[in-house]
Amino acid sequence: MVPDVLLEVKDLHTYFELEEGTLKAVNGLSFSIRKNRTLGIVGESGCGKSVTAQSIMRIIPRKNSRMRGEILLHHDFGAVDIAQLDEDGDQMRDLRGREIAMIFQEPMTAFSPVHTVGNQIMEALFVHGETNKRAARERTIALLDEVGIPAPERRIDDYPFQLSGGMRQRSMIAMAIILNPRLLIADEPTTALDVTIQAQILRLMKRLQRDNGMAIMFITHDLGVIANMADDVAVMYLGKIVEYGAARQIFKDPKHPYTKGLMRSIPKFGATEGAHLATIKGTVPLPLDPPDACPFASRCSEFIPGKCDLTMPEAVTVAPGHSVNCVLYE
Ligand SMILES: Nc1ncnc2c1ncn2[C@@H]1O[C@H](COP(=O)(O)OP(=O)(O)O)[C@@H](O)[C@H]1O
Ligand SMILES: [Mg+2]
Repeated sequence: MVPDVLLEVKDLHTYFELEEGTLKAVNGLSFSIRKNRTLGIVGESGCGKSVTAQSIMRIIPRKNSRMRGEILLHHDFGAVDIAQLDEDGDQMRDLRGREIAMIFQEPMTAFSPVHTVGNQIMEALFVHGETNKRAARERTIALLDEVGIPAPERRIDDYPFQLSGGMRQRSMIAMAIILNPRLLIADEPTTALDVTIQAQILRLMKRLQRDNGMAIMFITHDLGVIANMADDVAVMYLGKIVEYGAARQIFKDPKHPYTKGLMRSIPKFGATEGAHLATIKGTVPLPLDPPDACPFASRCSEFIPGKCDLTMPEAVTVAPGHSVNCVLYE
């Protein structure tokens, strides 16, 4: 293990058993998240990004799902395999929030409408042992201030519906980081926001990372956002990583036809308004009993019959720390 790695996912599979067959939402993922760094996970809707996040948080409903692989959370004293923990047990409950916290696209699903934002943020402090109400309130006001909420000593008593979308998103970030987690998982946290607010939230997350020293797993379908945020990038397609490496490398020299397709769909700065953006033909299929072949074969512009549809491409290292799963590079 490299010493600066915080979370290591090894050969993770998360399957759902459906009447129609086995849906392989996450199908053999391996990646690492470095301390104090941001790993961007990018792919279109339906690629398995959220299921990856939910697997790490162990919040996948167990009824019809199966999970295997390792999710190693490293400490100075060794590693804990999150995949082996009881999802309702004390250890997992303690780990959620305190070590790994999550924010997502819609803050209204994180907040209850009938309690004030302040009480909901503070709750974690009480659950984790704080007994002094005044201290908890002061800590919460300071945190609301830190995430850029004006007049936090008044806003703390607002109900979620009284806040704007951007302010709600800031409050959800406050709720997520109140226990100083070592890893923040952000699942499309700015997708519902307009571009100005989006830029503010991204800046806020970077500042919090710098000040508090946390790692971020940033999930988005938008490679443009990744360019702004990530140190490392995993490009995901149909439950698998198809390209992986340092963000700088991937943006300078994308290899996989899927990554190149995503790249062409980023609006260029200064481009004529309404200029036509290339999109990748077709849509992400359901990974129901997928064949043992390249997941992108059915949509790839470089498809080689008899090869891409018959074999699963191995990861090929194209530069130090940059790998791609595509027969074009084998
Ligand atoms: N609870 C579930 N039961 C069955 N299938 C699911 C469930 N959650 C997600 N899926 C399926 O898993 C695949 C990946 O979904 P998801 O991780 O939400 O994609 P993304 O976040 O990349 O848009 C999709 O095909 C989706 O339909
Ligand atoms: Mg999702």
